[in-house]
Amino acid sequence: MELFTKTLFLCLALALTNGAPAHHDAAVDDASLPDRCDGIGFDAITPDKNGTTFFFRGSHLWEGFHGPAQLSNESFQELDDIHNIGHVDAAFRMHNIEHQDDHDHIYFFLDDKVFSYYDQALEEGYPKEIQQDFPGVPSHLDAAVECPKGECMADSVLFFKGQDVHVYDIVTKTVKTKTWSHLPVCTSALRWLEHYYCFHGNNFTKFHPVFGEVSGVYPKDARSYFMKCPNYGHGGDYKVLKCSDVKIDAITTDDAGKSYLFAGSIYKRLDTRRDGLHAFPITRSWKEVTKGVDAVFSYADNIYLIKDDQVYIYNAAAHYTLIDGYPKTLKEELGIEGHVDAAFVCPDDQTVHIIIGGTISAIDLSATPRVVLRERPLPFSDIDAALCSAEGINVFKGATYYHYESPMTLAMSRIAPEPLNVTRAMMGCEE
Ligand SMILES: *[C@@H]1O[C@H](CO)[C@@H](O)[C@H](O)[C@H]1NC(C)=O
Ligand SMILES: *[C@@H]1O[C@H](CO)[C@@H](O)[C@H](O)[C@H]1NC(C)=O
Ligand SMILES: *[C@@H]1O[C@H](CO)[C@@H](O)[C@H](O)[C@H]1NC(C)=O
Ligand SMILES: *[C@@H]1O[C@H](CO)[C@@H](O)[C@H](O)[C@H]1NC(C)=O
Repeated sequence: MELFTKTLFLCLALALTNGAPAHHDAAVDDASLPDRCDGIGFDAITPDKNGTTFFFRGSHLWEGFHGPAQLSNESFQELDDIHNIGHVDAAFRMHNIEHQDDHDHIYFFLDDKVFSYYDQALEEGYPKEIQQDFPGVPSHLDAAVECPKGECMADSVLFFKGQDVHVYDIVTKTVKTKTWSHLPVCTSALRWLEHYYCFHGNNFTKFHPVFGEVSGVYPKDARSYFMKCPNYGHGGDYKVLKCSDVKIDAITTDDAGKSYLFAGSIYKRLDTRRDGLHAFPITRSWKEVTKGVDAVFSYADNIYLIKDDQVYIYNAAAHYTLIDGYPKTLKEELGIEGHVDAAFVCPDDQTVHIIIGGTISAIDLSATPRVVLRERPLPFSDIDAALCSAEGINVFKGATYYHYESPMTLAMSRIAPEPLNVTRAMMGCEE
């Protein structure tokens, strides 16, 4: 089972989006604004380049997974200028690494016109006729969604109209049309965390972007997953995490570039920032780890989660299956004892550095049994987490961190350097 199939049962109420909170004009009477929980659904859904997902209906939009509606023309001014159509048919975010000019632009489709925006500014020469920009793609579309190479055969856009899907190859500018009569007619479509969703009314159906196949039980009610609605979803409170309130338990990046932050009973993937940052219960991916973590590190194909005196090792290549015989004690696995505050392995290294109180120990992971190579005092204690990357080591303590060039400069350090503040770029928090 894929990680994100499991995490699909996510609690979006827990979503920690990294977009700015929706603007709220105090003069606007909320009752006059549409309510996204009313079950009517959306005309179009698209992320922007910052990973904020926009939901469009009529002349309004919602920015992110929570918050009130606002007029679309406050963000995308020209959308209702020309025809007074009053709604968007379809929208998608362009994924085009080869042509940086278009990359991350949002395209809107209204009747027979296409609008291209970058950072909420309309690009020169737009609106255009759809066929001028996307030859072979019909007018009056129902939905559109980008599909990057790797997930589709080539960098593509899927355009939906009725039961037909027009697969537009953005490099060759050619269209292949398929009919997916088993899918509902999509009023909007979204690619989110590497999965594809067709929205119809208040429901959505997950589909395969190449074959259109639906696996699992669909439709599901979007109000339980993609927005926060009273009496829907799995409860939990949305909270915007302020950078000055950050307190993490552990952080790690594996060889595949997947980056995880742990705090309390939740974790966040940091490398999927383009789709916004979202929090999931730790047990969604590591079901045996029910009480949070003290420290986490990645080594070879494995992720090591440490809680109290237990070490859990999961194989990342096999969608995080717990390796037979685990958890084991710290003593058995690493030859150490105590309450682990933080742990890290530097890229292409075989040494894990374990911080316990005011001490850092280096342990050779290639040797069995494990051998503590050296142990040194640190100029601080009570730290929360540590991460080593090509840029050096960051040792986190609350909302601040200490930066070091290498494990050696950290181990030799006698005076703590000036603490730096955790930033939005590091953790997706609000500054
Ligand atoms: C935005 O749209 C509303 C209603 O559609 C209209 O009343 C308003 O004048 C528009 N504002 C701008 C800035 O175009
Ligand atoms: C996206 O983020 C950048 C800075 O990170 C900001 O300048 C820009 O206004 C944001 N764009 C939108 C559409 O929110
Ligand atoms: C949504 O799904 C429910 C249950 O599967 C179904 O009864 C309802 O007709 C669906 N509505 C739409 C608009 O697809
Ligand atoms: C960190 O943030 C605090 C306010 O929260 C500020 O006073 C301090 O100067 C900042 N430190 C650095 C190094 O930017």
